[in-house]
Amino acid sequence: MTPEITLTQTPAHVRHGSNVGQPLTRRDGVLKVTGGARYAADNHPAGMLYAVLAVSSIARGRVTFLDVQAATSHPGVVDVMTPANRPPLAEDPDAKTNPFMFRLDLLQNDQVRYANQPIAVVIAETLEAATEGAALLSPQYEAQPARVGLDASESFVPPAVGVGNPAKVQRGDVEAALATASRRIDATYETPAQYHNAMEPHAIVAAWDGDALSIDTPSQGLAMAQGRIAGLFGISPEKIHIRSPFLGGGFGSKGLISGPQILGIMAARLVGRPVKLVLRREQMYGPVGHRAPTRQTLRIGADRDGRLSAIDHHAKTATSTFDDFFEPAADASHTLYASPAIATSHEAVRVDTGTPLFMRAPGEATGSIALESAIDEAAQACGMDPLAFRLKNYAEVEPISGKPFSSKALRECYAQGAERFGWARRPLAPRQMRDHDGLLVGWGVGTATFPALMFQAEAKAVLRQDGSGVMEIGAHDMGQGAWTALAQIAADGLGLDIDQVEFRSGTSDLPDGGIAGGSAHTATAGMAIHNAGADVVARLADLATTDDRSPLFGAGNAGVIARGGRLFRRDDESRSESYSDILGRAGLAEIEGQGKSAADQAAQSTYAMHAHGAVFAEVKVDPDLGQMRVTRVVGAFAAGRIINPRMVRSQLFGGMIWGVSFALHEHAVMDRRSGRTLNANLAEYHVPVNADVPSMEALMIDEHDPHVNALGIKGVGEIGITGTAGAVANAVWHATGIRVRRFPIKIEDLVMPASH
Ligand code: MOS
Repeated sequence: MTPEITLTQTPAHVRHGSNVGQPLTRRDGVLKVTGGARYAADNHPAGMLYAVLAVSSIARGRVTFLDVQAATSHPGVVDVMTPANRPPLAEDPDAKTNPFMFRLDLLQNDQVRYANQPIAVVIAETLEAATEGAALLSPQYEAQPARVGLDASESFVPPAVGVGNPAKVQRGDVEAALATASRRIDATYETPAQYHNAMEPHAIVAAWDGDALSIDTPSQGLAMAQGRIAGLFGISPEKIHIRSPFLGGGFGSKGLISGPQILGIMAARLVGRPVKLVLRREQMYGPVGHRAPTRQTLRIGADRDGRLSAIDHHAKTATSTFDDFFEPAADASHTLYASPAIATSHEAVRVDTGTPLFMRAPGEATGSIALESAIDEAAQACGMDPLAFRLKNYAEVEPISGKPFSSKALRECYAQGAERFGWARRPLAPRQMRDHDGLLVGWGVGTATFPALMFQAEAKAVLRQDGSGVMEIGAHDMGQGAWTALAQIAADGLGLDIDQVEFRSGTSDLPDGGIAGGSAHTATAGMAIHNAGADVVARLADLATTDDRSPLFGAGNAGVIARGGRLFRRDDESRSESYSDILGRAGLAEIEGQGKSAADQAAQSTYAMHAHGAVFAEVKVDPDLGQMRVTRVVGAFAAGRIINPRMVRSQLFGGMIWGVSFALHEHAVMDRRSGRTLNANLAEYHVPVNADVPSMEALMIDEHDPHVNALGIKGVGEIGITGTAGAVANAVWHATGIRVRRFPIKIEDLVMPASH
């Protein structure tokens, strides 16, 4: 079943041959606002049962008793899955053969290694019965004290951080440079544990038919999920059909299939009926990843003129006791500022939590709020305006690798953002501005950067004799607008109007669309689509240019261009022929092409590839109460070619809202005695609501980067968070004169400065 995307929602004003660049509205927008978009948990196959997780209330120890009898006897309960009766798996859930493989808790034994770890699954005819059954299990434990916090145990140097980055990197002699620097700062910043909190919880509807498996579940990586499930159940990936047409957010937590999703599949196998399993909000605080806390020390040296001479960035972080993910926070100092000496290093502790994971610019977000704060402190130590200091020190070539990159675009971001914001009127000293209500006003700036990554993907293109086309790719729309932007690339690639293209996406039977992560999906899937379009058009051109009955005869493949369902001679556009005529004469109902994409290794080794930006924020702080609000944010971003400015603006707003959230709101509070998150709900885990979101502007700076990929696309998903968090923190300092180094910034930081 293909998702219910119709082609009639596209505005009619689209110009031929230039679908890319048009601010089309979301092709899935009407479906979403009318409730017609079917999310995973909306699926109710015949005979479906409801599964509810029972999770551990301790963080470390062993389950000694579950009252399975009480649960099973409850009316409506069909079965209770525990380590005693769970279906066998073909692969050890604790096996790890590559860095993208995370250890899962699939009821393999009675051990508890973090709070909210699944310990049983109750399956019943109704959600209510399953919920009641889970409550009746009344688990008993042999508990051991939880080890939590960044000082929980002896630290060590991780073997790698992020995905395979070295834990320590050095260029130049930082200690020598610091020793001779005339201006120096040495400051420690702390960021809390954060949880992805996608609006849609992890959900799965699983149905077995023999050894074939049909699944509805949100996924940022269909092919990887398929591979992981295939390994665990010992079936071939082709036997697994996953539908994921829409995600209610992912933010990294749906990049890899999680333990609870697998438990839903196991439950369906156990009872031999389709099963739906949906996590409750508080159950998302454990088995589906989080952003680890960090403590980062920045030592920065500069000369008397405000030129940087040394950056030393050290980050301490935490991972679980049983698996490895190390937030690569210090790596943020690799790319932004030109210092002759740069050193970055990481250390980690093991704690009794679920394994941390990629979350909204992993490393870049945590690292940049510390780095941008420290750069502001360095500017202050040099008596310089923080923007002027950045303009003096931003890197023209990537400092750590020495490779050239598009830093001209960054200068443009600083200039246009500052102009739009009105930065020139900013007094240098803090606590100088008040609004008409007497609130303190502060302005801050932060530099934004995010790598322009590309993964691998494939696509299939078809042109049909009736003049229409099809593009197929198992891509993922998390809400970012992939249904729209990728269809635009498809239309241009096929040389068709967008309403002539059937765009199929979001299911695992389509060509592998790679993963929607690392802000790389538009580039990755887009290039596969572009190449598939080019391939099918080339095949069509072959038919025409080698046929002496065609007006294109002899033009050669490179001598034609495709537009509006016709091929034109490049040197004489009065000579053209429609796709229908070409296919009709050849007696073909349709013609098919394929495309692949991957990062260009030669270009990657020559150039550093990043998107850039500059974010300017205004905050207002009540001088008596410490209450603070972000009132204005202007971000200027250079991110290569913009496929759909409406979607991109929305993405940049989303990123900037995360930045506000990082600086002022999000904080998972750990109970040190129990090892449980105290605020595992959206009432007490604060994220910005409409009233917290200020007036925002996102300026898109024209940038043509010919090296990233043939379409010139960079990512826009995550870059917004990287500049904004620091800009807000710096604005709070400028409003109050108080430098808060522990995030999120809280009212008590501003009314009781002595506590810091
Ligand atoms: Mo993301 S954290 O690359 O989904």
